[in-house]
This record gives sequence, structure tokens and C-alpha cells, in this order.
Amino acid sequence: MSVIKQMDEKLANMIAAGEVVERPASIIKELVENSIDANATTIDIFILNNGLKEIKIVDNGIGLNEVDAQKAFLRHATSKISTEQDLTRIKTLGFRGEALAAILSVSKVTLKSRQKNSNGHYVKYEDSKLIASGVDSLNEGTEITINDLFYNTPARLKYLKSEFSERAAIIDIFDRLALSHPNIRFSLTIDEKLVKETYGNEDYFSLIRQIYGSNVLRDIKTFDETFSNINLKGYLISPQITRSRRNGITIFVNGRYIKNFPITQAVINGYQQFLMTNRYPIAVLSIGMDPYLLDVNIHPQKLEVKFSNESILKYQIESIIKNTLIDTKHKIAENIEVIDRTILKDEKYIKESLDFEYNEEFRETSNNNLQKIPEMDYIGNLASTYLMFQNEDGLYLIDQHAAEERVNYEYYISKLNDLEIITNNLLIPEHLNLTKEDLVFINNHIKQFNQLGFIFNSETKLIGHPNFILNKDLEDSITKMILMIENDEEVTTQKLLNDLAKDISCKASIKANKRLSLQEVNSLISRLRRAKNPYTCPHGRPTIIKLTHYQIERMFRRVV
Ligand SMILES: Nc1ncnc2c1ncn2[C@@H]1O[C@H](COP(=O)(O)OP(=O)(O)O)[C@@H](O)[C@H]1O
Ligand SMILES: [Mg+2]
Repeated sequence: MSVIKQMDEKLANMIAAGEVVERPASIIKELVENSIDANATTIDIFILNNGLKEIKIVDNGIGLNEVDAQKAFLRHATSKISTEQDLTRIKTLGFRGEALAAILSVSKVTLKSRQKNSNGHYVKYEDSKLIASGVDSLNEGTEITINDLFYNTPARLKYLKSEFSERAAIIDIFDRLALSHPNIRFSLTIDEKLVKETYGNEDYFSLIRQIYGSNVLRDIKTFDETFSNINLKGYLISPQITRSRRNGITIFVNGRYIKNFPITQAVINGYQQFLMTNRYPIAVLSIGMDPYLLDVNIHPQKLEVKFSNESILKYQIESIIKNTLIDTKHKIAENIEVIDRTILKDEKYIKESLDFEYNEEFRETSNNNLQKIPEMDYIGNLASTYLMFQNEDGLYLIDQHAAEERVNYEYYISKLNDLEIITNNLLIPEHLNLTKEDLVFINNHIKQFNQLGFIFNSETKLIGHPNFILNKDLEDSITKMILMIENDEEVTTQKLLNDLAKDISCKASIKANKRLSLQEVNSLISRLRRAKNPYTCPHGRPTIIKLTHYQIERMFRRVV
């Protein structure tokens, strides 16, 4: 007896739907991409109950005629490609002709459309069947409404993350779509409240401000370069403003938002020398290239692409970003680094390991009076940032900020022994400046946070924290924890505090460009002398640099 049956269209579509439209955000992505492909210049998105009750997208694009309004919902029905060759030169965002069919199989859909110089019309589907159609009056363009999403696939509903995650995912996809099309005016209305809006005036700076907030525009750097027919445009937010995760990096290829690990890594590498460890930059990179060099037909969601020239691309991206971020200040720093390395090697008391980590040894050695910083006389300050000293061996420069960081770091570390976790309960929930992604993350890992003494209420507001963490450091400590969990590290109090100490010390340190009084200089140097590792700041940058008399004389060609 033959047991194999071909699935009917509806069942096949429901199965495919699992891949194309797994959550409300992916439906919004598909529908907005359709509007973009229809040359819309205005796209308005309306959401009710995180998209489960209703998703409505209104565009002013070219629309569909009455026949196509029905054909559009058939599986593999598309106006965008027709031959195999077309597959190698895809310029539209859609091409697989399966999104509408998939959406239809898991929701109730109404589509209204009006093309130029013709009448408006509508179709209404339920249970994948046409239940009504006719004329309708509307502006030129298309309005598609998705109701009761996943009503017939309860398992899918169950797999949705918390309301909070779904909402965060919707906002995230909105941001990426808006960033990839500065010429389109987008708006997002959630539960009848306008949440986000862009102007569509091609002004990328105003767009970035709309999406990331105005503070990122400070020190933003841009590039626009073309090599072997590939155009790279970048908007590099200052490395001073970073995130604990990679999601601040947005990459487009020919206007398509993509997820691509090697290219994302190239962006991070370009930023590397300016970033603190475990921090990631915010940047937008737009790649324009011949579609022929690109395969976007890898996954139904079309988020992945394969570049035929990936390694050159990576190299170019990394070096362009590096060069864009480097300014003259940093070029001079390179010279110093050369000198610094040779000098540091000379110092017989310098330890091999530059990056100080908390360990038992610290307690024993911190009290001994090893003379690590030589006796020297203060001769003044340079640029209110570097303290200058001299002795019979030569000239010393101390970076006051780096030195203060080191001193504070060791101070905090020394305080961190034998901690017992006691939670301080807060009467009023603490307001923390965390991103929506952070809150989602906390929600998903609430146990680990509770273990260390961080207690949140049902709205992810902090209502208790470990007693050894000061209010001002709460945000930092939570971000640190997110990072550790994300990197699959075991989360321990010691580790958290060690990491935190590096940050706290950095924050508490004297800001560069502050002129220190003689008393402050003396106090800083005497504390630095007592540090276990006075030569680097907790992030590994040097605190002290020495130019020997010999080197100075060589620079003046007095000796060879
Ligand atoms: N907003 C829209 N405006 C005009 N045409 C649309 C719109 N949405 C969908 N269509 C038409 O419906 C077709 C099917 O859409 P879809 O299932 O998403 O497949 P694809 O985008 O891969 O072609 C599209 O090729 C397009 O012709
Ligand atoms: Mg599509």
C-alpha cells in the first residue's frame, strides 16, 4: 500500500510559514519589504497587541491590480523574477514569492490596493480562503492588514517569547528597515501610540538621530569609498559610545539589511584599538555592489547573504574603518608606542603580564615596599593630561587618567575580599538606563541575576541589589553580568566585582584635561608607587612612559 501523499497547498504553506514568518517582527519585515519593492516613499506601520491582534502596513507604492491582488497570495507567485538568470541579479528585496502565501496560512488577511488612474479594490481571506472582495476607496498604494496571527497554530504562539521580546524585536526590525532606506518616510504606531518616525529626507544624520538618539552624533565619522566596483559607506559612531553586544552594528547590502558574522567582525576589528575589552561599537555600514557577486538565496528570511569576494571585502572594511577613526592625535601615539616598548623592556622590575588580574598573590605583595616607580622630580604638566618628571636617567610622562584608573582599581579590588551576598531591598524601584534588549535579556536569565542578589519586579524594574554595589554602579554591574552570561562564562561575585572594578576605577578617575595641583600630583604618585602593577591601567594601556637621555640625545643627533 502506498503511504506517501503529496501535501495540499494549505498544509505546505503552513509548514513553509514556520521558516519565513516565525514571529510578528518577521511578518513586518516581509510586508515592509514588499512596500519598499513597490517603490513606496511613505510606509506607516500600525501594531496592536505586539502584532498578534493586528499588523497593518499602509504604503503609497505602485499597488496591485484586481487580478494580482489575488495571485499575490499563491505560493511562489512573484512579480520580481521570472527566469533563472534573474536569480543571479536580484535588485529587489523579495523574490521568492512565498511571504504572502505563508502569512495567509497563519492569519486572517485583508488587502486593499489602488493603482494610479484606477479604482481601489479589496480582498479578504480567512482560513486561506477568499471570503470577500469588491471595490473600496483608498489612496493610491496598498494597505494590508493581518489579524489574529497564529490563531490556527497554537504551537507557534507558544514559542513566541515574552511580550517584551516581541515588542523589542519589532522595534529592532523597524530601526534596521528605516536605516536602510533614508529616502522613505517610516512611522511605527504601537497600540495607537506613535513610537517612532523618520523623515525620509535622505539626511542620514537626522535618521541616525531618530534611531539612536542625538548623543551619538557627537564625533560621528563617515566614509564613502569605492574600490573595484564596490562602494562602502559608513557612519561610525564614536568609540566612546559603545554597547555590550554586537547589535549596534547594522549592515546593508544593496539596501538589504543582512546578518553576517564575518563582516560584523571586520567592523569590530576596525574599531578594535579604540575599544575597551568586551565593548562593541555602534556603526552603520552600507555596501553597494553588483548583485552578481552576491547570493541572497540562502534562507527564506533573506537575512543571510554570501559574498563571492568576502576576504577582500573584510580587509577593506577593516582598514577603511581603522583609517577613518584614526586622527592625527593617534598617529603621534604610534611613535610613542615604539619608544615605550623598548623602554619598558629595559626596566628590570617590570612584570611580564601587563594586565593585572585579581589573585591571591595580590594580598601578599600589596604591602611590600618594592620600589617600582623611581625617584623623580615633577617638572610640570603637558596638555593638562600628562605629568612630566625627570631624574638622572631621563624624562618621564605619566598619563594622569591611566594612573588614577590603576590606583582606584587596586583600591576596589582590595575591598572585595570575602564577600557575602546580602540583598538591599529598595522601597522604590531603581530607574536604570538599560536598553530594551538588556531588559529582555535580564528577563530571560532572571535566575542568574537573583543568585547574585539582583531582584527585579514583574516589569523588570530593579527592586533589590547586592549590598556591596553602590547605586551609581548598578547599571554597570548589570551590563557586566549580561556580558558574562552572554559569553557563557560562569557568573561569580568575584568575577563581577573584578570586572566592575575596572569600570568603576575608570569612571571615578580624574578626567583627562584637568590640571592637577602639586598636592594632587604628589598624592597620585605616592598611591601609584604602592600599586602592585603601576605600569598599566586596568585596560592594559601604559600609565608611564620614559624617554632616556640617550634617546633624547639620539633624536637631536648628538649621538648615533
Ligand atoms: N505592498 C505591495 N505593493 C505592491 N505589490 C505588492 C505588495 N505586496 C506584495 N505585492 C505583490 O505581491 C507579490 C508577492 O509578494 P510576496 O509573497 O511577498 O513575494 P515576493 O516579495 O518574494 O515577490 C509581489 O511579488 C508583488 O508583486
Ligand atoms: Mg515579499
